[in-house]
Amino acid sequence: MARRTSQGLIRVGVVGIGRGYGFARAASERMGMKLVALCDVREEPLRAAGKDLGVATYTDYERFLEHELDAVILANFFHEHAPLAVQALAADKHVMSETAACFTMSQAAALVDAVEKSGKIYMFAENYPYMIFNQEMRRIYHTGAIGQFVYGEGEYVHPGPADFWNSISPGLAHWRNWLPATYYCTHALAPLMFITDTMPSKVNACVMPYRDDDPVGARRAVRNDAASVITVRMDSGAVVKLLQYHLRGEGIWVRVHGSRGQMENLRQGDSNMVRLRREQYHEKITTPREQIYLPNWPAEHQAAAAAGHGGGDYFMNYHFSQAIRTGKQPYLDVYRGVAMSVVGIQAWRSALADSNTFEIPDFHDKAARKKYAKDHWNPDPAQHTKDMPWPSILGNIKPSKAALAYAKKVWRKCGYTGE
Ligand SMILES: NC(=O)c1ccc[n+]([C@@H]2O[C@H](COP(=O)([O-])OP(=O)(O)OC[C@H]3O[C@@H](n4cnc5c(N)ncnc54)[C@H](O)[C@@H]3O)[C@@H](O)[C@H]2O)c1
Repeated sequence: MARRTSQGLIRVGVVGIGRGYGFARAASERMGMKLVALCDVREEPLRAAGKDLGVATYTDYERFLEHELDAVILANFFHEHAPLAVQALAADKHVMSETAACFTMSQAAALVDAVEKSGKIYMFAENYPYMIFNQEMRRIYHTGAIGQFVYGEGEYVHPGPADFWNSISPGLAHWRNWLPATYYCTHALAPLMFITDTMPSKVNACVMPYRDDDPVGARRAVRNDAASVITVRMDSGAVVKLLQYHLRGEGIWVRVHGSRGQMENLRQGDSNMVRLRREQYHEKITTPREQIYLPNWPAEHQAAAAAGHGGGDYFMNYHFSQAIRTGKQPYLDVYRGVAMSVVGIQAWRSALADSNTFEIPDFHDKAARKKYAKDHWNPDPAQHTKDMPWPSILGNIKPSKAALAYAKKVWRKCGYTGE
């Protein structure tokens, strides 16, 4: 049984020193945590990070798990979280995992089994619900001010110059160079689930294909498409539209229509501001028809204001620590984590099947886990067989020679020497 430090701090180890570095720095006494170890396969930067933070470093995950740790935070590659999470749970560690929770349906089933068997805390590190405007919209929703959830939209549109993308996607095999356009859907979906307490039940998806006239794409070693639209039927009957990824016109936007009103964060100006619209037909007028304001966080306002991703990052370590202390699974538990991750997988199936409908199973149900236990379907080109899909709607597309040469130049500048 894991013990804590003599001061009662949760001993934390972080895997992956890119995004993971932020988690590592935030694992502070204020959070009731103490960072004790880092793990990464990139030896040189790992050693520098370990020195900087004054903690042990490991290039081998199994040896890392032997360190005296209470909790592991996974910020390794997008498509490799579930196996590492299962291993950590089996080694009696609490786990917080970055997006995605799972890369296949089989992994989803195995991860839920592992959490239930271990009795440990599992948290899915979806930070977008904890942005200030999403926390406010959850508060409003639960006052009943907009009635019942009817329709929602979530957008995660994240363009950027080629040099930026190349610098964080080193190598042709890096997941950012091939991940299908439906898979990075949790930033768009999680806020809507959080605000309305609903779960996805079915999906249909369309993909906007790769374009060779995009000057960013023409400088990247990509094998995937620009963006996708996913429609999700929620378990309440509400419908949601998700839009994600490489389009021009950056924006993180959430809109919720209820039976008595509507709310969203602003598209223009300060996108942390909330617009609440209540047409109070056939009822006593209690508020102005439209209110636009900058909300507060319901808790931890000062500290959250200083954190990344609109304050959302602050609440990851905060809720993980709270869950471990109380022994109660966090809101973003394994069931919500796999449900929103599986939306990306089933949406890819839908996009490849002319937008037909695919189910999002309820993995609380053991029969659903059994049904998908052997479903290893996935678009990783490195695992490709005749039964597996390619990562683009256009099939097995390859970057042009010029694009690859340009990307390689940037990789070399960043110290990556591989192909
Ligand atoms: N929630 C957010 O806002 C947000 C933002 C950025 C990234 N992310 C997520 O964080 C994760 C990491 O992304 P990133 O931006 O750091 O880029 P990345 O995926 O390139 O970095 C992963 C890091 O993990 C290391 N790694 C990979 N496999 C490992 C293994 N088996 N053992 C030890 N180390 C290993 C790599 O060397 C690298 O340093 C991804 O899942 C990504 O989706 C989330």
